[in-house]
Amino acid sequence: MNDVRPPAADFAVRVAACQARIERVLDEVLRLPDPGTERLRDAMRYSTLGAGKRLRPILVYLTGESFGAPLERLDPPAAAVELIHVYSLVHDDLPAMDDDDLRRGRPTCHRAYDEGTAVLVGDALQALAFSVLAHEPMAGTPPEARLEMMRVLARAIGTGGMAGGQAVDLEAVGKTLTVAAVENMHRRKTGALIQGSVLLGALAAGVSGAGELAALAHFGAEIGLAFQIQDDILDVEGDPALLGKSTGADAAHAKPTYPSTAGLEASRARARELRDAAIAALKPLGARAGALAELAHFVVSRAS
Ligand code: IPE
Ligand code: IPE
Ligand code: MG
Ligand code: MG
Ligand code: MG
Repeated sequence: MNDVRPPAADFAVRVAACQARIERVLDEVLRLPDPGTERLRDAMRYSTLGAGKRLRPILVYLTGESFGAPLERLDPPAAAVELIHVYSLVHDDLPAMDDDDLRRGRPTCHRAYDEGTAVLVGDALQALAFSVLAHEPMAGTPPEARLEMMRVLARAIGTGGMAGGQAVDLEAVGKTLTVAAVENMHRRKTGALIQGSVLLGALAAGVSGAGELAALAHFGAEIGLAFQIQDDILDVEGDPALLGKSTGADAAHAKPTYPSTAGLEASRARARELRDAAIAALKPLGARAGALAELAHFVVSRAS
């Protein structure tokens, strides 16, 4: 994008620390001892560990920390949102959906293992995400807050959110959509989990004020849509070596995307507009939201 800004050094350090931390947490929760399922466990670990930007856990950590939560308490929701995200990627790549061979610089799960295993990897990662939210220690978090986190996560990924958005995506193949319809699809398939990640971080920190939660929900919705628009832009003009996935796949599969519907220039402009709207939504939260504003810049300037 035109306005690439180097992130502040301390922000980059915090992001790197979140990435290292979530890697350790995921490694722990994926030590599944159930006998006879070693191949499934290996495929879950293959798909989850060692790569990925970890945007959704970073959102949990940065939001939670902004509201005073200790990092330990944020580990379970951070792991839960990444496990859900990886499940969505593994299923998204299947031949029945986007039929992709490359993910995070490696063969996709169904290529490295097989299709049946990839279906089960998604199933088991989704179950594990809710299990982590239900069982992992979160000192200082009352049961009602855990329950609310599970509700928020379920809403983000069900028919009204991610799975519904993916269904719209499948039905849209080969069709021409309006810009409003593309935005609605993107808000659901990708935006809802990103928004959910922000909300989980806030809930783990004990945020309960309707005004603060509404501001964070608005922020999450706007960066969530911006994130998928940038993903669509990178599918047109990104570098596969940096992205770790093939480009040109949307056009090859006749997927209506933001650039195919509105044009590249309008897509870039819309992403910037959403970034600015997201940052404006943080205003009531004051200086504590500084890291989230930095993240909004990253979402639309990223090259991977
Ligand atoms: C890719 O997500 C799929 C979308 C929802 C657009 P990311 O770009 O966050 O993928 P990873 O986690 O970094 O691999
Ligand atoms: C993926 O959107 C959305 C979800 C996985 C829910 P894309 O299909 O555009 O993601 P990539 O480009 O394959 O990463
Ligand atoms: Mg897809
Ligand atoms: Mg895809
Ligand atoms: Mg894409």
